Amino acid sequence: MQPPYKTRVSELFNIDYPIIQAGMIWCSGWRLASAVSNAGGLGLIGSGSMYPDVLRQHIQKCKAATDKPFGVNIPLLYPSIEEHMQIILEEGVQVVFTSAGNPKTWTKQLKDAGIKVVHVTASTTFAKKAEDAGCDAIVAEGFEAGGHNGREETTTMVLIPMVADAVKIPVIAAGGIANGRGMMAALALGAEGVQVGSRFVATPESSAHDNFKNVVINTPEGGTMLSMKQLVPVRLVKNKFFTEIDEMEKRGAPIEEIFNHLGRARAKKECLRATLTRANWSLARLLPM
Ligand SMILES: Cc1cc2nc3c(=O)[nH]c(=O)nc-3n(C[C@H](O)[C@H](O)[C@H](O)COP(=O)(O)O)c2cc1C
Repeated sequence: MQPPYKTRVSELFNIDYPIIQAGMIWCSGWRLASAVSNAGGLGLIGSGSMYPDVLRQHIQKCKAATDKPFGVNIPLLYPSIEEHMQIILEEGVQVVFTSAGNPKTWTKQLKDAGIKVVHVTASTTFAKKAEDAGCDAIVAEGFEAGGHNGREETTTMVLIPMVADAVKIPVIAAGGIANGRGMMAALALGAEGVQVGSRFVATPESSAHDNFKNVVINTPEGGTMLSMKQLVPVRLVKNKFFTEIDEMEKRGAPIEEIFNHLGRARAKKECLRATLTRANWSLARLLPM
């Protein structure tokens, strides 16, 4: 593919390739986002697990590392949402991808500030809601995706054509896309860009721990499964934690018990644990800077 590869998505963000690097909590800090943007895609800082001051530092470092467009992904379910949005506005971020919440809540305010807004959805119903809320584009994320997922379990292959027919704004396909062949398939199905997550986790620029990168690379076919459908559906690697949750779900444990087992700030804690087990890492790397 020779740049520029023009679609409404590449034109919307003024990028060479309609390839978005997904926001992924502790895996996608400024290093990954700026590397993708410098390479002609759109890098996203995953703000979900960041304290507000950490998000500000990531945005400032990203601005210093690239003069190309980049954005911030904000899952709307986190408690620091107001502070995150304030920082986005103060730092002049140009692109925001929202997820895990109602697109109506923040889209107008962000658009009024001149920000391009994209919302992540897993169904035609929510894709239309995002369009009605004034979003510039939507991400249609199929069942194959890593991270949180739709309860309906609609696969990317099925979801993309339905969503592309249902909305007029550009559709960015996500879920199970990891190379050029997957991207071409998504474009053939009616998408005008792709959002890639898991593949970018395993890059040197990703702030994920090497152990996690190795799990992403080495997990075999069938090695992940959608879990916690009652609480918050998420695709998990079938490891010890998965087995514990699976056992609770099978014996019909109450939601509170599963919630308590999750604990608080699991993403931040995992980041900390992974960092401390790596002897040659300095304390400065406690958070994914
Ligand atoms: C480790 C991980 C963390 C994720 N965190 C977020 C997040 O914070 N916000 C969000 O909107 N999506 C998140 N996602 C979903 C991605 O943004 C993306 O849509 C998905 O990974 C695409 O599917 P793929 O992994 O098959 O490429 C996450 C995915 C992974 C694998």
